[in-house]
Amino acid sequence: MSYIDGISMKESKSLDLYDIQGNVCKGYGRYGFPKARYCFLSFQHTHSAREFLALLIEKITTAETWPVSESSDHHRIKPNSTLNLGFTYSGLKKLGLPERSLKGFPVDFTMGMKARSEILGDTGISAPEHWDDIWQQDNVHAWVAINARDQDAIEFEFNALGDLVTQHPDGVRIMSGIKGPNNTILPYQDASAVFENGLPTAKEHFGFTDGIGNPYFEGCGNSMSRLPGRGKLMRDGSWQPLATGEFVLGHVDEAQEYPPAPEPKLLSRNGTYMVYRKLHENVDTFNGYIDNLAKDFDGSRDLLMAKMSGRWPDNGAPLTLAATDEEKETLDAKMASIELRVSEGDKSALIERKELRRQWVDFTFNDDKSGSRCPVGAHIRRTNTRGSLETEHKAFHRPGALVDRRRLMRRGLPYGGIDEAKSDSAEQGIIFMSIGASIERQFEFVQQQWVNYSNDFKLGNDKDPLIGSHDGKLTDKHIIQGCPIKGAKPPFFCTQMPRFVETRGGDYFFIPSISALRMIAEGLIDPS
Ligand code: HEM
Repeated sequence: MSYIDGISMKESKSLDLYDIQGNVCKGYGRYGFPKARYCFLSFQHTHSAREFLALLIEKITTAETWPVSESSDHHRIKPNSTLNLGFTYSGLKKLGLPERSLKGFPVDFTMGMKARSEILGDTGISAPEHWDDIWQQDNVHAWVAINARDQDAIEFEFNALGDLVTQHPDGVRIMSGIKGPNNTILPYQDASAVFENGLPTAKEHFGFTDGIGNPYFEGCGNSMSRLPGRGKLMRDGSWQPLATGEFVLGHVDEAQEYPPAPEPKLLSRNGTYMVYRKLHENVDTFNGYIDNLAKDFDGSRDLLMAKMSGRWPDNGAPLTLAATDEEKETLDAKMASIELRVSEGDKSALIERKELRRQWVDFTFNDDKSGSRCPVGAHIRRTNTRGSLETEHKAFHRPGALVDRRRLMRRGLPYGGIDEAKSDSAEQGIIFMSIGASIERQFEFVQQQWVNYSNDFKLGNDKDPLIGSHDGKLTDKHIIQGCPIKGAKPPFFCTQMPRFVETRGGDYFFIPSISALRMIAEGLIDPS
């Protein structure tokens, strides 16, 4: 059975997409919403906060499907902006959830991100005492996200939110204390795709192409053409959708179990958790480090960057497809010739382009156990190991059985870097958001064991070359494995790596279903 056949059968599972919040199933950037504003609310009095919530629910964007492009033939109209909502544990308490329901939430979520800083490697300059003021106050109760086609739509929705808040002075306030550009302190966090020539790109501030790899799960509503390389890897090299329960509560997960969730079931079903992290990028330090190292590296600056992330910065091609400057040149030439034929109306070129593009995501590290193509410690190989942790032949029932329980549904956008020079002190980075049914098993595990430690990869204490909590010590290194066969190329050591990425704040949020939101707003949660 081909993978498409396989999926068709699996896809018979349908989720109530109208009950699930839209950000769970959609990365809005891909749907033409390059701008975002994240606001944080503090609740004062339960009754008035619930009244506010009841009105806000009407604005929430669900996971119903839309066309990816405006030209797609589709009967649903895409809005100008979207709105989504999540609560911290203290927010749920403030909204008056019964004690028994509160006790059912997992300890990672109830503790919150700040209290988990040691686990996450948020130490030194990334420690909570250096985070934006808003996170020092311990009364962030809710996260509201507005994503939009343009800045005007953001302002419009933000004003509407402000009006709603003003109508409930005893219930809610929008919190300030977020560091903005040019030393401003703002009541919101803006984020935006990086624009080039007036158009949004998939670039982040170090210059990498981002937003390519993301999991595909059963019933998510996305086109099945996105499955290869994004689902779970099968023994025959094909891909199947990951179990819904890895990302949405109340559904069976990869262990064939229902993820632990609070009672009553209606409170948790179709809800999930989200990790929100403001990750500052030291662009100057990064560029300086790369420039310096490139002098000794046998290859281009772009190849050196690719050997850190696992993908070429300019177009995100994976190293599995082109692992040297020469191979990249050949790949670029092939792509350019296909594009030319597409522009001349050659239909077979369209198919060739689709096939080549598929290889951007549909790959494994099976033929590269030594890491001579994609270094074992490269960012994408650590954070999505695919089948590479199966070091013994058929050790698991599926090659990627271990990673299937650690997949992260990434959301978020770059922030800052628009008005200011690309210096370390400029406010710029990534608002990283990750969705999953278990913060501890998925995000925290990846962050602790694979980003800031390397035992699983037999790389000792090495950390992720891009986002590891390095401090410039001799031992803060990344190894670019050599090639034992072709010309016996020796390994290259990136040493004394500084901290390129610093944490500037964040927390853990529960993203309830629409039905659960209604129950919370009406005070109708009954766990008995
Ligand atoms: C400023 C911080 C970060 C930067 C600059 C960054 C950069 C990148 C880049 C360039 C890619 C490759 C493009 C793609 O596959 O989408 C990527 C992929 C990825 N990153 Fe990050 N990242 C950051 C933070 C994080 C964090 C904190 C985590 C999780 C702990 C993470 C997990 C992932 C995952 C899971 C992938 C996809 C891997 C795959 O499926 O192949 N990233 N990141």
